[in-house]
Order: sequence, then structure tokens, then C-alpha cells
Amino acid sequence: MRRRTYLYGRRIGKPLSPRRAKLMATVFQTLAIDLRVPPPQPLTRLFVNPVDDVRLEIGFGAGEHLVACATRLPASGFVGVEPFVEGMAATVAAIDLAGHGNIRLFNGDAADVLEWVPAASLAEIDMLFPDPWPKRRHWKRRFVNSTNLDRIARTLKPGGIFRFASDSEDYVAWTLRHLLARADFGWTAECADDWRQPFPDWPGTRYEAKARRAGRLPTFLTFDRKDDAAR
Ligand SMILES: C[S@@+](CC[C@H](N)C(=O)[O-])C[C@H]1O[C@@H](n2cnc3c(N)ncnc32)[C@H](O)[C@@H]1O
Repeated sequence: MRRRTYLYGRRIGKPLSPRRAKLMATVFQTLAIDLRVPPPQPLTRLFVNPVDDVRLEIGFGAGEHLVACATRLPASGFVGVEPFVEGMAATVAAIDLAGHGNIRLFNGDAADVLEWVPAASLAEIDMLFPDPWPKRRHWKRRFVNSTNLDRIARTLKPGGIFRFASDSEDYVAWTLRHLLARADFGWTAECADDWRQPFPDWPGTRYEAKARRAGRLPTFLTFDRKDDAAR
């Protein structure tokens, strides 16, 4: 049975400019995923362009990383999820300019998308600078929890990658604790540079830049999904 999901944080900020509001009413509608309709099988058929694999970005903010990856990897399909309407509208404007045929979007909770996609259908899941919810009483709002990790484990292919970046030392430690306690994921790091240096071909994100300006050093964690049979 489908488990209930909860979305924390804001969804609506300032009103959109008329141009962005129009893009949301037109271009966004062609890119939006409808979770009421079953996913295509295989999931690669979600995209206008032919693609070899599908990657998911959770909480893409203003979409800079999503759009940069979709440009760099035209043979991959990208599903971007962001509940905040302003960020979604900025991303739709960037996609409209570049004309990507390998991006689909969902304006809502990534947990719902993880429930929707077929098992073992994703090559990679990125979660970059998620809301850290630093207060103890808010820790239960963190996206990394055992229910969402079950969802991530279900949807990643064996050998698929889960990437997590954060400037919150506490959230990094929390994520490591959760992932290292599981048999279905392995941490790929072999030396300190593997978590101190950004992921390969890293275009940066808005929140990463903000953290560095404030003197906070980000950490970059990569986990691989173990093959169930090999565990
Ligand atoms: C701190 S911002 C980071 C944005 C971007 N990744 C960056 O690095 O610039 C965290 C983002 O996660 C989004 N978010 C929060 N809860 C989410 C959820 N359940 N599913 C998807 N995105 C979520 C927020 O709306 C916000 O844009």
C-alpha cells in the first residue's frame, strides 16, 4: 500500500512575473509529470528525446545543476522535483530557452515521485543541499529518513548512485549514520578528497555558493546501491 508523504517548507513566495506565470501555464504543462497516470515502461519513454537512463534530482532549487547536467548528458533523462513555485518557474524559463528534450518536472514532494517510478528504474538520485532542519524538534522533517531511504533503495538500479551534498555538518553525520546502517547501500569514498571535493563535472549550486560565502565547507557523499543478490 502507498505510504503517506509529508511536505515541509514553503511552496509559494513572491508572485510570478507575467512572463513566468505564462511559462508555468504553457511550457511547464508540457514538462510536468502527472502522477495520476502510471509511469511508462520503461521509464526512459518519459522523455521526448531518446535516452539511455533516467536520473532524479530532489529539491533542485532554481535548477542550475539540473539544467547543466541535462546539457552535459544528452543521452540521460532527468526528472527534477521542486515544490517551490518560484524555483520551478526559473527552471522552466531556462529549459524554454535551451529547448531540452531530456527533462521532466514535478512541482511537489520528491517522496511522491519516488513512490510513482517503477522499481530499479533510476541510474542516479541527487539531493544537493537539502533543507538541514537544524533544530532537534525538526529532525523528523529531514528528507533523509528510513522511509525515504527505502524509497530510494527501491527505485535505484543495482549499482545506481545516490549523491548527497550539504554544508550542515550535522546533516552530513546524520546521513552517513542512516546509510552506513543499511546493507543495501555502500559509501564509495576511499580517501578524504572523495567527500571534500565536489562531484565530477560539478557545476555548483546556489546554496553551495551561499555556504562557501559564509565560510561553511560542503561535504559530498556518494553511495552505491548494492545488488540484492550480492548482499
Ligand atoms: C536549501 S534548498 C537547495 C536548493 C538547491 N539544491 C541548491 O543547492 O541550490 C532545498 C530545496 O529542497 C526543496 N525541497 C524541500 N522539501 C522537498 C521535498 N520533499 N521534495 C523535493 N524538494 C524539496 C526546497 O523547496 C528547496 O528548494
